Amino acid sequence: MMRRNFIGSDRSETVRNKQGSNMEIFERLESEVRGYCRSFPAVFTKARGHALFDENGNEYIDFFAGAGVLNYGHNPPRLKARLIEYLREDGVTHSLDMMTTAKETFLRRFEEVVLRPRGMDYKIQFPGPTGTNAVEAALKLARKVTGRTEVVSFTNGFHGMTLGSLAVTGNAGKRGRRGNSASARHQHALRRLSRPGY
Ligand SMILES: Cc1ncc(COP(=O)(O)O)c(C=O)c1O
Repeated sequence: MMRRNFIGSDRSETVRNKQGSNMEIFERLESEVRGYCRSFPAVFTKARGHALFDENGNEYIDFFAGAGVLNYGHNPPRLKARLIEYLREDGVTHSLDMMTTAKETFLRRFEEVVLRPRGMDYKIQFPGPTGTNAVEAALKLARKVTGRTEVVSFTNGFHGMTLGSLAVTGNAGKRGRRGNSASARHQHALRRLSRPGY
């Protein structure tokens, strides 16, 4: 029978691992910088809607939801069907910033649904797929447009682990993890509004 556990809630300790040897390969080969797997020590096999399943057949309610990015849940049927169809038709899956019909379709729809009804005369930039890519792009854009170099950041704000994002992270613990020299590089261009000690 399926057991129900909770991911991303105060009860996450209920998933403390009982799988021992199954985790050996991760311990032995994967970098020490890995993080979330330490909070959720299970080896997952499937994900559907609100649920994750591990290799022992346990079911978990996933409150973590990919740190909040899985707005439609895991593998929502409509998205899954379109994705499978796209792959079956050999749709382009890597194109850097080249032009593809998939991007054309997206741009047309975005303009129709989001921009035009709001009278927004905006340009669209496609950064890499991570949050920190978007933050880096925003930092560069702000500097370019304003011509200024200083950026303010707030206590405990988290923006990602690349250099620029780390430099505007108002939490000394997070910045320190990459070595102080890394984040110190941009210190001249920063004004932190963190409380003392952060
Ligand atoms: C507010 C915020 N900004 C940026 C990031 C960085 O995103 P990524 O890990 O995809 O680079 C995160 C990640 O948790 C975030 O919560």
